[in-house]
Amino acid sequence: MDTKQKLINILNQSASAELPDLGNLLMIPKDSTNGDFTLPCFQLAKIWKISPPEASKKLLSLISLPDEIEKVVPVGPYLNFFLNRKIQATSIINKILEEGSNYGKEKHKETIIVEYSSPNIAKPFHIGHLRTTLIGHALDRTLRHLGYNVISINHLGDWGAQFGFVWAGCELWGKPENPDIDDLVEVYKRATTLKKQQDENTVPAEDKDKPDINLMAREYFLRLEDNDTEALEFWNWCLDISLKYLKLTYQRLGVHFDFYTGESFYRDQLENIEKNLKESNVLTDSRGALGVELEDPLGFVRIFAEDGRSLYITRDIAAADYRYKTYSPEKIIYVVGAPQILHFKQLIGVLNAIKHPVAEKIVHVPYGHVPGISTRAGKTDVDTSLKALLREAHDRALNAYKTQVSKRPEDVDEELVAESVGLSAIFFHYLSRSNIKDFHFIWDEALSFQGDTGPYLQYALARINSIESKAKEAGLVLDDISKLNGEYLSSPEVYEIVKLLGDFPNIIKKTALDYEPAHIAQYALDLAKVFSANYKSLRVLGESDTNKSLTYLALFKAVANVMKISMGLIGVPVLDKM
Ligand code: ARG
Repeated sequence: MDTKQKLINILNQSASAELPDLGNLLMIPKDSTNGDFTLPCFQLAKIWKISPPEASKKLLSLISLPDEIEKVVPVGPYLNFFLNRKIQATSIINKILEEGSNYGKEKHKETIIVEYSSPNIAKPFHIGHLRTTLIGHALDRTLRHLGYNVISINHLGDWGAQFGFVWAGCELWGKPENPDIDDLVEVYKRATTLKKQQDENTVPAEDKDKPDINLMAREYFLRLEDNDTEALEFWNWCLDISLKYLKLTYQRLGVHFDFYTGESFYRDQLENIEKNLKESNVLTDSRGALGVELEDPLGFVRIFAEDGRSLYITRDIAAADYRYKTYSPEKIIYVVGAPQILHFKQLIGVLNAIKHPVAEKIVHVPYGHVPGISTRAGKTDVDTSLKALLREAHDRALNAYKTQVSKRPEDVDEELVAESVGLSAIFFHYLSRSNIKDFHFIWDEALSFQGDTGPYLQYALARINSIESKAKEAGLVLDDISKLNGEYLSSPEVYEIVKLLGDFPNIIKKTALDYEPAHIAQYALDLAKVFSANYKSLRVLGESDTNKSLTYLALFKAVANVMKISMGLIGVPVLDKM
């Protein structure tokens, strides 16, 4: 039982039955000079019909305290409790070393679906999809750590008119041979450029003879929706090429999905959705399109286009229904950019209109905009492909490592370091701020080993690891936790580190509650900072008092463990040495 719970029990036992649950009243003072916990005595005063300062003193006289509490001081209407830091610190460090990678885990059992990444197939996987991938992945891992049965889904945009443009492009200019994803994207871009030129009457001479490409694309998609064999064959061809590329990219990012059930997965269920909507009497006709009229400001939501085609939202209705029936989730979290806030409000609105119970399970986690990243080619383009970005990250990281880190271990695998440092720079730059904030990606900021960055975290961890292995070489082993001496852990500087370590489980819970991986990212940074500021004065090696060096070694191990877990939860690769 943790100390807080022990204290609550004691408070509740010693006070008489007519009192409220004192546990609910116990607070953590803003200023730690007022203790570790404080109990405001205003309610007690009312019940006892005395003044609050008197109530605080009276309560003090009623309770007997456990060893974990060092002193209790009544201050005006408050009763302040000070923990015994020696006991507290040793028990935190022990717990962390005992639990290892399980520290902060909980035993929630409910199913939570996390849907993220969801790029559009046949369109470029541009860096716009990077933010949902990273946020979603961090939430996925964090919820799993808390014990939830997480189902991660990539709702690929693999159905829709965009395939029509790739198809039309291949018809007009020929199918590329042995294509990879870039070739498909090229065809798509060329086709949509022609559409734009046709719309704007700016078609160049060589393309003047081309038919209306928008019409071709739409006709193709209608055939696809009608299960036309030839149309399906082409679609499958595109899908295979794209999936092969995507899976390699996710692998490189360390991201894994339980299901790649994209929009196309629901195409057989659309008829049923139409039937449900009709039976619920919510469909109305607006200039040929069928939709649901919602209250302002949501307005009329088109569900089937004029020509009967399904729309993006139609597939989302089907997906929500399917997920609800198949997995009985507690929640379905959608990590999708802020421009789709209205879309998700409308989705929930339509589901509520047909009284579908999934409506209240939907949580949209929106995120802000990251304008294009400047690449070597000098352009700042949101269409920058992820592949190019990762290549550049790798190269830049190698350079940053060689120029910024002077003491590099001889046997280090520089390519591995470059890859991990590059990824950590990107991950951390994206995840260290609140989801909804817009920001500019700046390479030098992301890659600095001195700043608030992923590489800084990796370096801090590598430093602790190297002290640990030197300790091992020197024959210092922590075989018995009872050798820890709380005396050495209770100075203000060291206790600050220990307190942070003890707070980690709360940070994980808060992250899940707010859907904000930035809490963990910032926490990891705080921990690395207080540790780096103090570790030089805490000597593990060359300390004559073995008890002292073992205690510090335990502290170092605990810090390394918590840093590893927190980096792991946000997906930042952990390097043993660098
Ligand atoms: N493919 C969409 C896009 O790139 C995102 C899909 C989001 N998920 C959903 N269920 N609507 O904009």
